[in-house]
Amino acid sequence: MRILITAGPTREALDPVRYLSIRSSGRMGYALADAAVAGGHEVVLVSGPVSLPPVAGAEVVSVESARAMYEAVRDRLPGCAIAIFCAAVADYRPRNPADQKIKKIDGIMTLELERTEDILGSARSVFGFRGFLVGFAAETNEGRIHAREKLRRKGCDLLVSNDVSRPGTGFEALENEVCLHYADGREESLPRAVKTILAEEILRRIEALLPRHDDHGTALS
Ligand code: C5P
Repeated sequence: MRILITAGPTREALDPVRYLSIRSSGRMGYALADAAVAGGHEVVLVSGPVSLPPVAGAEVVSVESARAMYEAVRDRLPGCAIAIFCAAVADYRPRNPADQKIKKIDGIMTLELERTEDILGSARSVFGFRGFLVGFAAETNEGRIHAREKLRRKGCDLLVSNDVSRPGTGFEALENEVCLHYADGREESLPRAVKTILAEEILRRIEALLPRHDDHGTALS
């Protein structure tokens, strides 16, 4: 199957040398892409800036900003059976990025920010995606309630939440501890593990929920 995965942070330019970004190593998304390639899938990895080796066997599309990630996803989503949005997309960008490096001033500087595109939230409503949609949610409190609400609002089939307030898991860590929230109301906690193992577990569950296809993409009964 053709699978699109977003990974890593986005960078939102403030001027030619500064940007706003999010703490994210991209490891979870890259581990999912590795697992999907190993499982024989055709993988498109839309990646923000990370310091990880590219995923062998995947088509890697490198982007910087949320807008560029939005456009890359929009252009590549058609034909995908599964889309996994794992990227830590900045929610805001500077409203008027400067052409020149902004000079220091004494005292307080105020930045005006505007919302970026909601890529996951656009998958169904704007891009018309009909495949299996997976979102991620990094929560620091009340994870369960927020996760269920996000799953519904963004039209996901599965939402993977993790509590980033715990030491040693989540953003930038090698390990993670996640809870899977399914559209039918089921919930499943996966024990803490390295992201490569979790990626395989998550992918196996997604595959089990999809109709089986033969080598030509034809659905098998
Ligand atoms: O709302 P929140 O940012 O917590 O949602 C997280 C999920 O939405 C992740 O799957 C992330 O990749 C995706 N997302 C997105 N575009 C945004 C913000 C988040 O695709 N602008």
